[in-house]
Amino acid sequence: MERENDPANNVPDAIFSKLGMQLHRRDNHPIGILKNAIYEYFDSNYSGKFVKFDDLSPIVSVKANFDDVLVPADHVSRSNNDTYYVDAQTVLRCHTSAHQAELLKTGHSHFLVTGDVYRRDSIDSTHYPVFHQMEGVRVFCSDEWVDSGLDGTSYAAMDLKKSLEGLAKKLFGDVEMRWIDTYFPFTNPSFELEIYFQEKWMEVLGCGVTEQEILERNGKIHSVAWAFGLGLERLAMVLFDIPDIRLFWSTDQRFTSQFSEGKLGIKFKPFSKYPPCYKDMSFWISDSFTENNLCEVVRGIAGDLVEEVRLIDNFTNKKGMTSHCYRIAYRSMERSLTDEEINQLQGDVREAVQSKLKVILR
Ligand code: PHE
Repeated sequence: MERENDPANNVPDAIFSKLGMQLHRRDNHPIGILKNAIYEYFDSNYSGKFVKFDDLSPIVSVKANFDDVLVPADHVSRSNNDTYYVDAQTVLRCHTSAHQAELLKTGHSHFLVTGDVYRRDSIDSTHYPVFHQMEGVRVFCSDEWVDSGLDGTSYAAMDLKKSLEGLAKKLFGDVEMRWIDTYFPFTNPSFELEIYFQEKWMEVLGCGVTEQEILERNGKIHSVAWAFGLGLERLAMVLFDIPDIRLFWSTDQRFTSQFSEGKLGIKFKPFSKYPPCYKDMSFWISDSFTENNLCEVVRGIAGDLVEEVRLIDNFTNKKGMTSHCYRIAYRSMERSLTDEEINQLQGDVREAVQSKLKVILR
C-alpha cells in the first residue's frame, strides 16, 4: 500500500495481512455459522426486510469511523494507541458503526452490517486486534409509533430490547439476561445486554436509540431508529466452547473440521492442550510507554504463539523511576514448543522491546 510510509501509519504487517481474510463469509467457520444464524433470526422475524452487507471495506475514513457517528474530537478511541491509522484521514474501522451514516444516506432503513474490525489492545484469551462485529439498524417513521401512546424514543427502545432479547433466546436458549445503562456517542439512551453464563455476567452487545442528529444529517427526518453492535467472537466462544480467541484464525484441520454449515450447537473438542511457558520481563518505563504498544511488539515477534501478556509487578523508586514486570505466556494451539524456541522468542522480544519502546531492561 502506498500509504505505508505515511508518518501517521501504525498498521504492522501482521495486522495488514488479516485484511481480506473474511472469516465471517465462511459458512463452515464458527464466525460465519453464527452470522448466518443471526441473519435467520432477522429474516424470519422481519420477513426479509433487513438488507445485509458483509463485504464493505474495513478501510474507512476518520470521518466515517468517528465524526459521522458523533464521536467527540477528544475521545480516547481516536488515539493512535487505540486505533490503527492507515494515514491521518484513514483508519481500519474500529467498529461496524462506521457504516451507519453512509447506509442511512443511501436510503436504507433496515440493515445488518457484518465485518472485521480492528483495535489496538492488550493480549489475553479473549482479546485479539482483529475481530468481527455485526451492526443492526432499524428506522421507524412517525406513523409507526403514534398509535402506541409512547413517544418515539420509548417506542424504539422497547422494540430494540424486545428484538435483542428474542435474538439472545434463539442463540442461548433460556438464559438469564439483564440490561445495563451505558454511554455511546451515537445512541441515547444506550444499553448493554448481559447474559449470565458460567457463573458470570457477560456483556454481549451494545445498543441504543440512534441520536437524532445522525438521522437528520442523513435524510431521515421525522424518524426514530435503534442500532446495536455485537461482537461475534465473544458470542461464538460461548456458543461453541472455544477457549481461546486465537483459534478462530487457526488453519489446523483439527480445528476447522469440527464445524459445519448451519450447525450452531456443536461444542469444540480441544485436540489437546499443550503446556504454556511463562517468561517474565522487567524494565523501567518512559512517559510514552503504553501496554498496547508493548503487546503489539510482542505480537510482532511471537505472532499467535503469545497467549497472554500480564502486568504482575509495578513500582516507583525514590528517584521517581517506574518499573513494570510483565509475564508473557507462550503457548501454541497446535503443537508443543521447545525450550530452545521459546528462549529464542523471548530473546527476540526483549531486543525488540528495548529498541522500539524506549524502556530500560532490568
Ligand atoms: N459501536 C459500538 C461498539 O463497538 C456498539 C454499538 C453499536 C453501540 C450501535 C450502540 C449502537 O462498542
